[in-house]
Amino acid sequence: MTITKALKYKNIDWTEAQILLSHVLNKEKLFLLTHGDYSLTESEEKGYIDCVEKRLEGVPIAYITHKREFYGRDFYINENVLIPRPETELIIDVVKSLSLPNNSKVLDLCTGSGIIPITLMQEIDNIEVIGADISLKALEVARINAQKYGNNIIFIESDMFEDVPKEKYKVITANPPYIPTHDSNSLDEDVKREPSLALYGGADGLYFYRIILGKGKEYLQEKGFMVLEIGYNQKDQIETLACENGYKVVFFKDLQGFDRVALLCLNI
Ligand SMILES: C[S@@+](CC[C@H](N)C(=O)[O-])C[C@H]1O[C@@H](n2cnc3c(N)ncnc32)[C@H](O)[C@@H]1O
Repeated sequence: MTITKALKYKNIDWTEAQILLSHVLNKEKLFLLTHGDYSLTESEEKGYIDCVEKRLEGVPIAYITHKREFYGRDFYINENVLIPRPETELIIDVVKSLSLPNNSKVLDLCTGSGIIPITLMQEIDNIEVIGADISLKALEVARINAQKYGNNIIFIESDMFEDVPKEKYKVITANPPYIPTHDSNSLDEDVKREPSLALYGGADGLYFYRIILGKGKEYLQEKGFMVLEIGYNQKDQIETLACENGYKVVFFKDLQGFDRVALLCLNI
């Protein structure tokens, strides 16, 4: 099979075919476009057909290629972690805008693949970062990613704050599960393939925010910040929750215009 034929195999989406084929051949997309008559070896062809079959069965691309870009860097991904979303990059922008003093301690709850703490370490000098997640399998992925970028990050297995070192953090970040449980049927098929543990935030989607804003007060410096991703329609509820818990809050919009990241600080 040539590259030209492979890209048309089973009429799979053209862009997805390119991603899968460059993954199997370990070549840039430009190679595919300039070498249409290259004949795949037997093992390349088998590998590619396997990938296409998986995709047609509904497996998300990132779980096939084990790769997803976040803030300009490639991260290892498997089916035990949420696939990084572009809107989560806004958390990084907001934390960077805080111009943190040297040696600031940052805690990332619900860290999953570790994209948030690892990117913060890459982007900001002289900070200390801890990542925590309840899923040991997710933490394995986070550690692989931290190793790739040579980051010195402590990852902790913890049910929210339960086993997090009891210190005062300058920043607490989190992209917690926030989909209301009853929305599960309306999710895209690709999303349904992601771990339930990473998706659902209880009946109203706010279960984890209640813990973060409530218990979090014991872990936040007086002049510290929380930077939290929220669901596209959760601004009003988060505003109420912030007010009830004694925080000031501002929201930042994602590229689609949704209020997507909440920046909170204690109202003192
Ligand atoms: C929406 S994912 C976010 C992953 C990653 N931070 C990102 O932005 O791609 C939420 C993460 O919360 C973790 N999680 C779920 N319940 C938790 C709990 N009780 N305590 C700590 N982490 C939890 C899941 O394992 C999952 O990795």
